Amino acid sequence: MAKLNENYLNIKQSYLFSEIAKRVNDFCAENPDKKVIRLGIGDVTLPLGSLVIDALHSAVDEMGKAETFKGYGPEQGYDFLRNGIKDYYSRNGVELEADEIFVSDGAKSDTGNFTDMFSVDNTVLVPDPVYPVYVDTNTMNGRKIIYMDGTAENGFLPMPDDSVKADVIYLCSPNNPTGAVYNKEQLKAWVDYANKNDAVILFDSAYECFVSEPGLPRSIFQIEGAKTCAVEFCSLSKTAGFTGTRCGYTVVPKAIVKKTSDGRTLSLNQMWNRRQTTKFNGVPYIIQRGAAKVFTEEGMLEAKGMIDTYRKNAKLISDTMDELGVKYTGGINSPYIWFECPFNMYSWDFFDKMLKEIQVVGTPGAGFGKNGDNYFRLTSFNNYENTKEAMERFKTLFK
Ligand code: MLT
Repeated sequence: MAKLNENYLNIKQSYLFSEIAKRVNDFCAENPDKKVIRLGIGDVTLPLGSLVIDALHSAVDEMGKAETFKGYGPEQGYDFLRNGIKDYYSRNGVELEADEIFVSDGAKSDTGNFTDMFSVDNTVLVPDPVYPVYVDTNTMNGRKIIYMDGTAENGFLPMPDDSVKADVIYLCSPNNPTGAVYNKEQLKAWVDYANKNDAVILFDSAYECFVSEPGLPRSIFQIEGAKTCAVEFCSLSKTAGFTGTRCGYTVVPKAIVKKTSDGRTLSLNQMWNRRQTTKFNGVPYIIQRGAAKVFTEEGMLEAKGMIDTYRKNAKLISDTMDELGVKYTGGINSPYIWFECPFNMYSWDFFDKMLKEIQVVGTPGAGFGKNGDNYFRLTSFNNYENTKEAMERFKTLFK
């Protein structure tokens, strides 16, 4: 008899955003006349930029001619894109080698897939609240997970505790869901902890493009010592509207080398390369051509224009919270606004109230862990008109 992976019994029956989509779809089916405004899942709404579209079109044309047609590409990504990403890091003061960069179909898959690199015996430390993918993927593998509290008191930025022994640590900054951002000193404390304890930090920087306050780090590699202990996951989803187009990248420094139980050495970079060449056939050429455009100076300007639009929405949401006296974090260096549920409500109850009474969809904090039970997340990814209307409707809850 085939024995199934019983660890699946230990995760929730459905993924957070699938559960939300189900509830919203049920509501829409029962109330076809109601206009629902979606500020739930962090999915972009602006179309791809025109420079990216041009690059995609030319790549499609190349695929239609024998001389320029491409079959299997390098599993790690084409050099033109790896070098483009390398130059982008360099402009931000981080020097990498191109073969430390692995192109992927997004940060969600890679943060999950990267669990292949670690023994099931490792203890995994995650913040709570947390992006559920880190917890679910490790639970699927049967790994022990311990939590560190992100609370209003610590600004939702838990710091290392020497009495806690962790082998693999997930950090996300700017944070999903809270929008909080570690400063350089705080990240340095994490890097020092990891190096001291021979741990690896899995750093999710999918929202780095939203950092707007000067001095805040956009990459963990801006921190001294990070190259011996940190892997960074990044994505074009939020940077350039690639949620549907799919392209991301993971930086695995060659300096992360660990001893095996019998005294040999393993390089994380070589292991990830081995894993990817075995289990992945690379991101489509056409998509990589579009992605490469994003990393040019003009492509970055185009992406910035999109991000500025979402920033304007975030400001509208945070101004509304200020006006209503609702406590929140995020919104400045992040597309997310994370706030305390009004009326002392449990977040799934508040979700239902918002959906039924004002037809605005958000994400209940409980979906991100126990510390989110009484919190709620709104995104700035809808358009300005809808965001404005959602905020007008939101205010009516307080009348
Ligand atoms: C979110 O809403 O948290 C994100 O869209 C999820 C993701 O990027 O996978």
